This record gives sequence, C-alpha cells and structure tokens, in this order.
Amino acid sequence: MLKMIELPYPMQALEPYYTKETLNLHYHILYKGYVDNTNKTQKELQKARETKDFSNIKCLEKNLSFFGSGAILHELFFENMGPALPTSPNQALMEQIIKDFGSFEQFKAQFESASINVEASRMVPSCMGAKME
Ligand SMILES: [Fe+2]
Repeated sequence: MLKMIELPYPMQALEPYYTKETLNLHYHILYKGYVDNTNKTQKELQKARETKDFSNIKCLEKNLSFFGSGAILHELFFENMGPALPTSPNQALMEQIIKDFGSFEQFKAQFESASINVEASRMVPSCMGAKME
C-alpha cells in the first residue's frame, strides 16, 4: 500500500513561484488522488488474481501505470523543490546557456514560455470508476 510522503517544507515555502494554494491543490487533491487510486487499483488487481478473473486486466494495468506514475512524479517534484535560494549558473553552465540561447535572459524567456505552454494531462482512465476529482 502506497502512503503519501510528508511535504518536506511548509505549504507557502515555494512562494512566490508556486503559491500556497497551488501547492495545496497538488499535494492534498491531485497527489492524494494518485495515491488513493493507486491503492484502489492494487486492491482490484489482488481481487482479480484471487478470483482468476482477468477480464479487465488491460484497464487495471493502465490505471496502475497512470496513477502510480502520477504519485511518483509528484513525490519527485515535492522532494526536489524547496524555498528559493539566491543562485546563478556556474561559469561553464552560463557559457553553454549563452552559446545555446544567445543570453541568459533569452534562455529564461524560452524556459518560461515552455513552462507556461507545456501540455498537462487531465485525462483520467475511465474504467473501474477511478477518478481524480
Ligand atoms: Fe500536480
């Protein structure tokens, strides 16, 4: 059974880049949904093995992959984020950024645009009644 990790910092620790409300949504609603649905799917898989009824195995494995990876990706995010520290790229990285992007400002502009426009999945497997919302 998967258990939610503790958030390693206060809910407002990522502000101003990530608001308290946004982190709360991702931790208490989305991450919890992934963990709960992973556990639900694992129970359904156990039942399928016990009853030897694998008629819905494709759906169950798809759900386990979707919800399990959602849980793991949120844990990676939570554990690799932290309060903002005043940092800048070291010399080698800065030189590569300037070589690739023209300037640090152009790199930031492209990175910010890509972040804003990245596609996110709101798709939820519909089989077995698993839902995130
Ligand atoms: Fe999220």
